[in-house]
Amino acid sequence: MAETMGTWRRSHYCGEVTAAEIGKEVVVCGFVHKRRDLGNLIFLDLRDRTGLVQLAFDSSVSPAECMEKAAHCRAEFVLMAKGTVRERQAKNEAMKNGDVEVFVSGLKILAEAEVPPFEITDKTAVKDELRLKYRYLDLRRREMQDAIILRHKIVKAARDYFDENGFLEIETPILMKSTPEGARDYLVPSRVHPGSFYALPQSPQQYKQLLMLAGFDRYMQVARCFRDEDLRADRQPEFTQIDLEMSFADVDDVIAVNEGFMKTLFQRIMGMELTVPFRRIPYEEAMRRFGSDKPDTRFGLELTDLTDLVKDCGFAVFSGAAATGSVRAINVKGAAKELTRKEIDKLTEFVKTYGAKGLAFSRWTAEAQSSSFEKFLTPEEKQAIHTRMGYEQGDVLLVVADAKTGVVFTALGALRVELANRLHLIPENSFDLLWVTDFPQFEYSEEEGRYVAMHHPFTAPREEDIPLLKTDKAAVHAKAYDLVINGCEAGGGSVRINDPALQTAMFEALGFTKEQAVAQFGYLIEAFTYGAPPHAGMAYGLDRLVMLLTGKDSIRDVIAFPKVQNASELMTACPSPVSKKQLDELGIALKQ
Ligand code: AMO
Ligand code: AMP
Repeated sequence: MAETMGTWRRSHYCGEVTAAEIGKEVVVCGFVHKRRDLGNLIFLDLRDRTGLVQLAFDSSVSPAECMEKAAHCRAEFVLMAKGTVRERQAKNEAMKNGDVEVFVSGLKILAEAEVPPFEITDKTAVKDELRLKYRYLDLRRREMQDAIILRHKIVKAARDYFDENGFLEIETPILMKSTPEGARDYLVPSRVHPGSFYALPQSPQQYKQLLMLAGFDRYMQVARCFRDEDLRADRQPEFTQIDLEMSFADVDDVIAVNEGFMKTLFQRIMGMELTVPFRRIPYEEAMRRFGSDKPDTRFGLELTDLTDLVKDCGFAVFSGAAATGSVRAINVKGAAKELTRKEIDKLTEFVKTYGAKGLAFSRWTAEAQSSSFEKFLTPEEKQAIHTRMGYEQGDVLLVVADAKTGVVFTALGALRVELANRLHLIPENSFDLLWVTDFPQFEYSEEEGRYVAMHHPFTAPREEDIPLLKTDKAAVHAKAYDLVINGCEAGGGSVRINDPALQTAMFEALGFTKEQAVAQFGYLIEAFTYGAPPHAGMAYGLDRLVMLLTGKDSIRDVIAFPKVQNASELMTACPSPVSKKQLDELGIALKQ
């Protein structure tokens, strides 16, 4: 039978028992981390969220009942111990408070524990599936506790900073209207209105704009968002945004407030001084130089355009691609030794996963130059490429050609990051913060056969581009910006349209009929006729911010109860079938 706490209460967290407490009586509680039983001496390491403390028992002095209980304890038992803090005989340098221990005079076993399916250690090699099935045990590990605690501190710092800057936290609905733009919605059937559905919010976008119309002027929210999209290391079907919106603000105002936020966050959380303002890189430059709209600029390996040099060359792969797309290359300086033919073959497979059809190369070692494409070129063409690339002995050129320039960018953009990781070109513990600006307003969707909003349909175009809405959609740029940290899109936002006539023009440009626009967004269109202040905002992916600041590879490691690749949660085994009665109530019949 487990004991109860009775009148005992904790006086100190384990980590708070330090040399300053020597001689004091303390009550500590937590989980048994480790036991060392030397017969007449027993030591238990007790663990709570602040750390460990050693409990000491000595048969010649300790009460017999205490000795018995201590001998009975195993890993993960839940204890409360009363005793006196004293200096330790054998100090443990590896432990923060390894110079003291609690010499126990009273012990309560509050809960016994089965042998856990894996050991609760700082770092672990245990498979993710098992960790997630027993997430509550996984979360007992120091590394996980630290990440979740840091997450709390980041949220707290965000609330404080935005509060200090006049933002109000206002909640917006979780059950809302389904809208067709953006990712796939999660739907919730209505019992009261059979055949009708709510959608879970992909973001509070529309509501926060309505809050600006309502006159709240500055809004923020730590908002849960839901998107039914394919999972990746930096994507979860439900995730959290630090969401904000400001009235009477334009691009520079949002950027200034958020540079302030980043500066404060890095100061308070990381003890680091960031230099503001951050660099701004227009979208087109980011693509051209880095093949990505979220460039990691902590290393070189920039892209070089070779299209003009090879458009008439004898290598059909290049000249063919040059006609409608482009041929671009990276010079991997001094990497000829590491990048063997075998490695290049692996990189070829890598770029193929990004849609490239191949990876042409030229490699110049001390012994020889070898190339998969130069034999098809004239000496002049070859020389022109070498000169433009700054090709020297020791270098490797990697080239992607494609009839679609987008494919070349995607493949080389990913290859750049892969190379930097393989060749260890990224300095550790470094942070690279920049804005990508001037995104295109539209992107062409092959799937839908029309232009769709790259950000969302409420994003304002640059004033000078408004006339192009009717004539040249591809050339319209948006007043949109992303904050990129270490090559990860940490946040993004835009200036919104506040002129109903411009909003109508935007819906037209997106191919909505008037009726469709009214059916989907009628309430918004109407709202904007009653006086809409100019407004702008952005949202951070909180999970991504925490991932970046904790140096983790996946947002899964900074979410207490995340979902896995197929969007299920392994601990509770959801999603799960529901009873016929529940379905009947909702008027839903399942297709077999
Ligand atoms: P956006 O769609 O760019 O903008 O989202 C903002 C930020 O949220 C994070 N994010 C995600 N994090 C984890 N899992 C996901 N599936 C996921 N999807 C997005 C990213 C991203 O930068 N309403 C607009 C913001 C605005 O315009 O104010 C919005 O939601 O870090
Ligand atoms: P092939 O003529 O198919 O043997 O290709 C010759 C070389 O060109 C090989 O190194 C291929 O990997 C490379 N290659 C093929 N297609 C492409 C492409 N689209 N872009 C870059 N290199 C390519």
